[in-house]
Amino acid sequence: MIQTDFLVIGSGIAGLTFAVKMARQFPDKTITILTKANTDETNTKYAQGGIAVVNDLEKDSFQKHIDDTLVAGDGLCNPEVVEIVVKEGPARVNEIIEWGAQFDKDPEGDYMRGKEGGHSEFRILHHKDITGFEIERALVEEARSHKNISIHNHWFVLDIITQHHLGHLVTKSTPDIECYGVYALNLQNYNIEKILSKVTVMAAGGVGQAYRTTTNPKIATGDGIAMAYRAKARIENMEFIQFHPTALYEAGVSPSFLITEAVRGDGAILRNKAGDAFMLQYDSRADLAPRDVVARAIDNEMKRTGTEHVYLDCTHMDPIKFKEHFPNIYAKCKSIGIDALEDYIPVAPAAHYCCGGIKTDQVGGTSIRHLYACGECASTGLHGANRLASNSLLEALVFAHRCGKDAAAKIDLLAFEERIPEWNALGTTEPQEMILITQSLKELQQVMSDYVGIVRNDVRLHRALNRLDLLHSETEELYRSSIVSPQLCELRNLITTAYLIVKSAQFRKESRGLHYNTDYPAKSELLQNIVL
Ligand code: FAD
Ligand code: SIN
Repeated sequence: MIQTDFLVIGSGIAGLTFAVKMARQFPDKTITILTKANTDETNTKYAQGGIAVVNDLEKDSFQKHIDDTLVAGDGLCNPEVVEIVVKEGPARVNEIIEWGAQFDKDPEGDYMRGKEGGHSEFRILHHKDITGFEIERALVEEARSHKNISIHNHWFVLDIITQHHLGHLVTKSTPDIECYGVYALNLQNYNIEKILSKVTVMAAGGVGQAYRTTTNPKIATGDGIAMAYRAKARIENMEFIQFHPTALYEAGVSPSFLITEAVRGDGAILRNKAGDAFMLQYDSRADLAPRDVVARAIDNEMKRTGTEHVYLDCTHMDPIKFKEHFPNIYAKCKSIGIDALEDYIPVAPAAHYCCGGIKTDQVGGTSIRHLYACGECASTGLHGANRLASNSLLEALVFAHRCGKDAAAKIDLLAFEERIPEWNALGTTEPQEMILITQSLKELQQVMSDYVGIVRNDVRLHRALNRLDLLHSETEELYRSSIVSPQLCELRNLITTAYLIVKSAQFRKESRGLHYNTDYPAKSELLQNIVL
């Protein structure tokens, strides 16, 4: 059993930032980070384009970044949260620069700024095309330098502990549900440990693995959202799954390699099978329209021309600048026989980002006491119906800070709940057939990609729910009788996440932002968040 003042689930930008802040403020308190893979195996590590931030008020303004975010969010952003993130962003980015993160500068020493879809200005700080790798590197190094932070790699968090584990009935309407810590599976010895905490922060990232084609690494299985839902936290806006328009098309390869939107920001053009630039037919902002618009346009071109992909044309771009800004993309394309400066790059949309998640207030507090959420698993109100490109790293920094500020003010008033029982594994046995789990995962990803993708309708959603019901009952049976394994738990969490996406999509009787339902192609007058 472990007891820790601050428990952090996840070692991406959100979890590490929170941990470092608490470690600096409270050298005598303990901070424990649990992560189910290697420390740096996170969505954060794969971020490419950069971090959107207004850091030159002569060339840009807070108001413009606010307006761009609100336009992309299609009516559902919380304007107060947008203002908070945009205005507090520069200070938070400066902090990670102080901790060692480096962003590209020009020969005069000014930050170079990129542009992506939906941005009215060049404001995206980046480290070549591997911004996330650089941020994760700096944060991991900073976290490791603090003696009071313990990072436990390969610990799979199974469930949040609440009054339910003390034998009380806990439902969504139970007032004052409290979080006392988590149960976690130590993947080195397969023991299930009870970890008691005063404050718990869920920073477990995204859900991309619910789809067959995704830019997200294997760790993105919606565990944080599913655990929070099981513990009866409020989950909102799960229908808004963002598909990135330009993932490299390589048949059968998963996850898909991203071709950052910053390439289009620097002038690349989308072309269809016939070689025609098509984006202007869909939107006056052409290749730099917000992501929902571009992904739908590509989807339509692919269906219209019967192809599996469209092309990204970089052949007219300055070769020296291209190789300087996008060395990783250039090398990756080259490795599969494509010279990005001479050949068109085949690209197709891929599931990329979850705009909804665990509902939080403005300090990252969830509907469960002492449980905070930040980063991709949280729904703070910033993104609304469609996240503006490169706003998520910024949101993670701002909300990790806000969670920390609130938790810091409360920590000395909190105590451990000592009555929590050990995990009960009675009656479970080693699962006989791993194939049951891998096959169900494939089915789930197929169902979500075929019926709950970029374009939806009521019949498809209904079919998806029926298929999920079956997968759910089969998997629950397996879960009840088997010794837990990460594969089984991830499958279970993905089914829950998929269920939340489908149910939210069914409740939204309109098309808005990333949710496009051909049975309700217009926007409704009623502005509402779907909360489950
Ligand atoms: P993550 O970085 O995903 O970290 C999640 C952590 O939780 C991991 O450590 C994982 O192991 C852990 N975890 C999960 N489940 C469990 C469990 N059950 N038990 C224990 N640990 C668990 N955003 C931008 O703003 N700009 C960009 O340029 C950009 N580019 C992107 C490019 C790609 C290819 C991808 C995939 C995303 C990109 N994004 C970008 C989005 C952004 O990277 C993510 O939203 C952000 O990094 C999420 O950070 P996080 O800390 O919330 O989660
Ligand atoms: C990209 O670099 O295109 C991804 C940026 C993001 O997801 O915000």
